[in-house]
Amino acid sequence: MTAGRLIYVRLRNIRYLTRGEAIEIIRTVKEMQARSDSLRRNGKKIVLVPTMGFLHEGHISLIRKGRELGDDLAVSIFVNPAQFAPEEDFDSYPRGFWKDCQMTEKAGVNAIFAPDARELYAQGFQTYIRLEKLPMHLCGLSRPVFFRGVATVVSKLFNIVKPHTAIFGEKDFQQLQVIRQMVKDLNFDIEIMGGPIVREPDGLAMSSRNTYLTPEQRVQALCLYQSLKKAQERVISGVTDASDIIKEASAFILSHSQAVIDYAAVCDPETLEDVKRIDKPVIMALAVKIGKTRLIDNMMLGSEK
Ligand code: PAJ
Repeated sequence: MTAGRLIYVRLRNIRYLTRGEAIEIIRTVKEMQARSDSLRRNGKKIVLVPTMGFLHEGHISLIRKGRELGDDLAVSIFVNPAQFAPEEDFDSYPRGFWKDCQMTEKAGVNAIFAPDARELYAQGFQTYIRLEKLPMHLCGLSRPVFFRGVATVVSKLFNIVKPHTAIFGEKDFQQLQVIRQMVKDLNFDIEIMGGPIVREPDGLAMSSRNTYLTPEQRVQALCLYQSLKKAQERVISGVTDASDIIKEASAFILSHSQAVIDYAAVCDPETLEDVKRIDKPVIMALAVKIGKTRLIDNMMLGSEK
């Protein structure tokens, strides 16, 4: 039985082996669906962590959380062309598949789904998922195709991996809200879980794109976290006017020579609409270009968190 399975796997999948452990690396939709069907028939609970690879501790924290939540843990690694505009960094987006395999194996992942672009977007592909309201805020304004691409690929991954639970990071707060809304609207029978932002020791939110930063830019990039922390302190000390908070944060960010603000917003965590008066927990969200690198970060203001 085992031998048969291994021969099958060698022929059809690459199997990556270290320390006697194995991760199944699956490249095709059909194989992934068959694997998940079989797990489901055997009553196993499947957890999915979708990623674009070049993994760091932020991703790994979601994977660890996933380990606790089910019997089978799948990670998808796919740099999704549909969520990049032509002028964006699809070609240069960092990739490191074999290191990703090692990291996921250590973290207890059972399967990696890593299709190529033709496998997910065959010639003639024409069906996209577009939300009406949530993308009209924050990142959706400067990245008009982004959430359409994310919602489309994530719903495809849901149909392919068939998870019971899927985990997304709060670092991409708007993305998490978009997925939650899509799951609700389209009746996906999947539980969506969020995981907290993982930061470098000095506070910079971990991101695959941090690798683009020069040493000098890396220092300047701290201004996102520092301005969010400052805003949090201001709200704790009694400031309730969102425009004051935004003005102060913007001035601080712009005092950094390489920083250009895409947005600095204080908004309702559910609808992402701008909030004027902070009288309940709100989310402060930032997108700032440091040189050519666009970074995002966010923090709850007005709560214990
Ligand atoms: P990617 O940027 O690779 O992120 C994969 C997941 O890791 C997302 O849910 C993201 O929010 C989470 N993540 C990234 N940095 C994090 C950090 N510092 N702390 C906690 N979680 C973090 O987001 C995407 O890929 C794509 O848009 C995807 C959902 C895979 C669709 O293509």
